[in-house]
Amino acid sequence: MRFAVIGHPIAHSLSPVLHEAWLEAAGLFGCYSMIDVEADDLEQVVRQLRMRELDGINVTIPYKTAIIPFLDRLEPSAEKAGAVNTVYVDGMELVGANTDGTGFVRALSARQSSENILVIGAGGAARGIVAALDGTVTIMNRTDQRARALAAEFQAQAIDWSESPDLTPYDTIINTTSVGMMPRVEATPIELTETRALICDIIYRPTPTQLLRDASARGLATLDGVPMFVLQAAEAFERFTGHAPDLTLGEQVIRKQLE
Ligand code: ATR
Repeated sequence: MRFAVIGHPIAHSLSPVLHEAWLEAAGLFGCYSMIDVEADDLEQVVRQLRMRELDGINVTIPYKTAIIPFLDRLEPSAEKAGAVNTVYVDGMELVGANTDGTGFVRALSARQSSENILVIGAGGAARGIVAALDGTVTIMNRTDQRARALAAEFQAQAIDWSESPDLTPYDTIINTTSVGMMPRVEATPIELTETRALICDIIYRPTPTQLLRDASARGLATLDGVPMFVLQAAEAFERFTGHAPDLTLGEQVIRKQLE
């Protein structure tokens, strides 16, 4: 079996090491590679799937939406998020799924049941997560208009951007922005005052981010980006192979890579 993650640029993806560890643990022969795809070559990759030169792909920036017209069917997760991160073969059909949001929500539910959630950011990552979340969702984004548009689409609320918002209403706060990502590791999107919320960050480079360090210093519970990364990959792996992978092994593999 042959799988790949496609994107541009793609050099730092952790998907191959994770999927190959799972393939080996399941006793399956297969490989998982990275393909750096130029926009003009996207259709060619889809053709490789139709010819069964590839058995499944993960899709990352900047093709999560651009791939949609080439597929035969979307799962409801992808339909709702308007983005695809997994393409698999079902009979004669190429099916698009979105496991980013569901992966995050599974990682979150394993920690607590959230009722009042603040999502920071309104980009592609926020969209997948907001589409998958239950509970009351409030969105805050540097560009307020994007927060309002996303909130309107998903029956959520929007509040104006502030680096020191009132955090008292929320039991869960999720950073979906790129603030704090390498190389600007000292940056945080908000100041943590007056909150007892679980603080989540979908960034995993670095793990933990400065936001999560600040949260821990205040005695708050945190959820870093690793469980989400592992769960979105696990849901893709299940669609690719029909096997449920070992999540503990997956988390060990990724944490070792991030050391
Ligand atoms: P992704 O698909 O990873 O979400 P994106 O669609 O480019 O990527 O969205 C990036 C998110 O990070 C956006 O919410 C963006 O805010 P804007 O909509 O105002 O651009 C947010 N973001 C990026 N840099 C930021 C910064 N320095 N401060 C605050 N928010 C930032």
